[in-house]
Amino acid sequence: MTISGTQLAKEIKENVRERVNEVVKKYGRPPHLVVILVGEDPASQSYVKGKGKDAEEVGFKSTTILQPDSISEEELLDLIKRLNADDEVDGILVQLPLPKHIDEDKVIETIDKSKDVDGFHPANVAALWQKRPCIYPCTPKGIIKLLDKAGVEIQGKKAVVIGRSNIVGLPVSKLLLDRNATVTIAHSRTQNLPEVTNVADILVVAIGKPKFVTAGMVKPGAAVIDVGVNRDPETGKLCGDVDFDACAEKAAVITPVPGGVGPMTRACLMENTLECFLNKMHLQHQ
Ligand code: GUN
Repeated sequence: MTISGTQLAKEIKENVRERVNEVVKKYGRPPHLVVILVGEDPASQSYVKGKGKDAEEVGFKSTTILQPDSISEEELLDLIKRLNADDEVDGILVQLPLPKHIDEDKVIETIDKSKDVDGFHPANVAALWQKRPCIYPCTPKGIIKLLDKAGVEIQGKKAVVIGRSNIVGLPVSKLLLDRNATVTIAHSRTQNLPEVTNVADILVVAIGKPKFVTAGMVKPGAAVIDVGVNRDPETGKLCGDVDFDACAEKAAVITPVPGGVGPMTRACLMENTLECFLNKMHLQHQ
């Protein structure tokens, strides 16, 4: 069975939209999300466009700030500081990756943690790993929602995550662990990877290699979550990290690319933006 991220994302956004209508009545304005894109990478351009479109769909105020590749680190940090100081900005997202002359860690640390809708700030990451209240990073949060929606039991299951990035691999492993899965984190240098993946009840793949996971790596009846967004070298079409057609025959549930994790990441970004807005309003109205 294919799990549609598009459908679940739609339901989540409808819920956010209804809550936005309420907060506008209560606080006089909708949440405001600012997305910054540096440079002209086509993939990043398309992600940023999707985020702006979803923000408008749920009734947010949405601002996209485009900056040239030539922007200096200092100029970008100054821009972020101005947005931090702006009381009418509730969420700030800087699309990654950034050009090499800009230190991503510095950028992430500069975003005010109360406006960190990505959940990338070190203070937020620490809170996540210490099970304190935090903003759940969008893609990992979306993956857990997809598994829940598909009725996949997580508790007591063996989960294998391929990939160890700060954005997906590490935080999704932590969220699965917190739901009492037994988690193995594998990566491009894991020896005998099929041996590792073949025992996985839940297999999450975030490695960025087209059709990296073949049918022989999937345990019959597993839940397969494909986080990859790649171009198929043969057809030039969008494809995931999983050979979908072959693996769909073995998996009990599997996410497609496009239409799986991607829309869920954006829907969770909308939830996080509303959450940041509400946290701020509750503090101001205490
Ligand atoms: N690049 C790839 N995924 C993401 C994400 O979730 N947030 C940001 N800011 N950049 C990304």
